[in-house]
Amino acid sequence: MRGADPRVVLGLHRSCHERRLLTGALDLGVTALDTSTNYLGFRSHQILAQTAGDLLPKFTVSTKVGYFPGPGGAEHSLDPVRLHAAVEQAARDLGKEPDLVFLHNPEHSLREASSDGQEVLAEACAALDDATSKGLCAAWGIASWDPSPLVRLIGPTVPRPATLMVRAGLLVGVRTLDAADVLIKAWDLDPSEVWGMSPFGGGTSDSVWAKIDPRIFLGDSPQRSCVQAAFIVAYHLPRVGTMAVGTDEPAHLGELVDALAGAVEERTVQEYRSLLRDRSHDQRF
Ligand SMILES: NC(=O)c1ccc[n+]([C@@H]2O[C@H](COP(=O)([O-])OP(=O)(O)OC[C@H]3O[C@@H](n4cnc5c(N)ncnc54)[C@H](OP(=O)(O)O)[C@@H]3O)[C@@H](O)[C@H]2O)c1
Repeated sequence: MRGADPRVVLGLHRSCHERRLLTGALDLGVTALDTSTNYLGFRSHQILAQTAGDLLPKFTVSTKVGYFPGPGGAEHSLDPVRLHAAVEQAARDLGKEPDLVFLHNPEHSLREASSDGQEVLAEACAALDDATSKGLCAAWGIASWDPSPLVRLIGPTVPRPATLMVRAGLLVGVRTLDAADVLIKAWDLDPSEVWGMSPFGGGTSDSVWAKIDPRIFLGDSPQRSCVQAAFIVAYHLPRVGTMAVGTDEPAHLGELVDALAGAVEERTVQEYRSLLRDRSHDQRF
């Protein structure tokens, strides 16, 4: 068994929640799981407790609240009462208080919010802050697939999250990268307090991955596969200390953990971001 590496979180969004995956993760030193109330058809917490309840104390467990069962599958809400109840329910279903609870994609409701978005966001964050003070979870954060709408809403009334999770990697557009950087700066978050998510944009079988060679970002560092290179580059787009990545295959997780020893050329990352920015300017005219 390897020593714990806090830089990798096993994300369960697309996972079949097999026990062998969790034991494999522990063997690799991956001791953090990220799930959500709505994963696995709103059954992720219960299935985890049933199939691996004895393993859960060996992991730090993060989850998310914001989606609720509703007509047509799921509905999103930032109602503080519902969010607070969802955190309580998560602790009951998991059989332990989560180590971290994210407000899940707040932008989903904020886009539709007719009243003042900043107030809605502040009250939702305050609900998680309150749940944390009451010991229902150890900390709270914000997980945002599209952080751009949040940029204009943060201010002194919005409590600061302990962790921000944003999309990361080569498939993330410059608008999202820039928005993430604005939030990181505004909340004065250390890279260790920022998580990336979905470094492969949901999968490595997409045709885009056959057309690019992310090893260009590695300079002279030892040989890595394209998947490994894409994974470690994602820690720089934007700069994050931890990555939530999904896999149902422990050997794949092992490849990712092995990749962490590689170095990424910051200069190439900056050139890439300049190219993205130039292209976005070109498209505006
Ligand atoms: N808004 C949010 O809060 C939000 C949204 C999206 C994601 N997330 C978080 O981020 C996590 C990861 O996102 P994701 O699963 O959507 O996308 P992802 O991590 O970008 O991609 C997962 C896919 O990559 C493949 N993969 C991983 N390692 C591989 C390897 N070494 N070789 C080949 N293929 C590999 C996996 O296939 P195999 O199973 O075949 O390995 C899996 O299907 C989620 O579980 C969740 O925790 C959060």
